Amino acid sequence: MAAIRLQAIEKWFDDVQVIKGLDLDIQEGEFIVLVGPSGCGKSTLLRILAGLEDASLGSILIDDEDVTDRLPSERGLSMVFQSYALYPHMNVAANIGFALKTAGVDRSEIDSRVAQVAKILRLEPLLDRLPKQLSGGQRQRVAIGRAIIREPKGFLFDEPLSNLDAALRVNMRLEISRLHDQLGITTVYVTHDQTEAMTLADRIVVLNEGVIMQAGSPRELYSNPQNKFVAEFIGSPKMNLMPCREEGGQLSLLSASIQKSGISTTGKGVAWLGVRPEHITLCDAKQGMIAGKIMVTEYLGSEQYVYVDCGFEDVITVRVDPAEECTVGSHVGLMPAQDCLHLFDEGESRL
Ligand SMILES: Nc1ncnc2c1ncn2[C@@H]1O[C@H](COP(=O)(O)OP(=O)(O)OP(=O)(O)O)[C@@H](O)[C@H]1O
Ligand SMILES: [Mg+2]
Repeated sequence: MAAIRLQAIEKWFDDVQVIKGLDLDIQEGEFIVLVGPSGCGKSTLLRILAGLEDASLGSILIDDEDVTDRLPSERGLSMVFQSYALYPHMNVAANIGFALKTAGVDRSEIDSRVAQVAKILRLEPLLDRLPKQLSGGQRQRVAIGRAIIREPKGFLFDEPLSNLDAALRVNMRLEISRLHDQLGITTVYVTHDQTEAMTLADRIVVLNEGVIMQAGSPRELYSNPQNKFVAEFIGSPKMNLMPCREEGGQLSLLSASIQKSGISTTGKGVAWLGVRPEHITLCDAKQGMIAGKIMVTEYLGSEQYVYVDCGFEDVITVRVDPAEECTVGSHVGLMPAQDCLHLFDEGESRL
């Protein structure tokens, strides 16, 4: 276990800056999930941490020791990639023990550590199999086993579950969660999956174009996004954001037909009004704060989403009781919960 500190990290590929002066303190034993749009620099940052890529500027400290110029093997971090190439001609036991064998650890020690790792990952019945005789999830567990056996100070995961089908992902997510509870190893985990981010993270770090937009617990990010980017990025379906302006002491929504929202202004230049789908109720067309027409309904069994055209560029998503039958084409009113509103200014910062 280790505390990891990233200080003023910058990364340039030729004249393109991919990481733009990034600071991050990771506590010992913390589970950090790194999220952000494709190309925002997540893998690059992980590779810099691992030592597979040099930072152009800045430093990396592991337990207060500067490791910026150290080789990957000297950092004590284990990385698990999305494509986990196992050695095809070696069985599971040999794959897991390989790093120890090359390090010259003796046979009996390797055997006992492989047995220990196999037990943790429930791979004991599979130790004699070749990778081609394993399911995707089992192969992924072997890849994690190879990383664990080195008893790393930290784990780096780059979208480790994205090749698996939905059911296996859930299974492996629970395995990774259990593993972290059991071993308590400091972890940095990259994913595009909202559920993985929300359920695994002690802290989620939202990255955009090489800059941290916000770092905080899943609850903090969901209920208190510091900017419009995080508001829209965290949560699925995403938060509704309606353009508006302040007018005569009230917020006016900028829709096809501007209407007063009934919400008092802050006098601070509100430009966006945000409200999550579960914080809007549908009502009679004449009674709502906003009027609209149902375009699409999505019935998912345990929940239901209704997409309403209110004249904004984007349709408004509303979560509705699945027992309720909603008819496409019908006119409805939307009533946002007044104490669950998020206001952002022109610069897209939270007010
Ligand atoms: N070796 C390289 N040379 C030049 N540009 C690179 C190199 N590696 C990455 N980049 C660029 O750096 C940016 C960040 O890439 P990175 O792989 O870190 O993104 P990412 O956040 O992991 O994206 P994804 O979610 O798609 O995996 C991208 O614009 C990418 O094209
Ligand atoms: Mg990547």
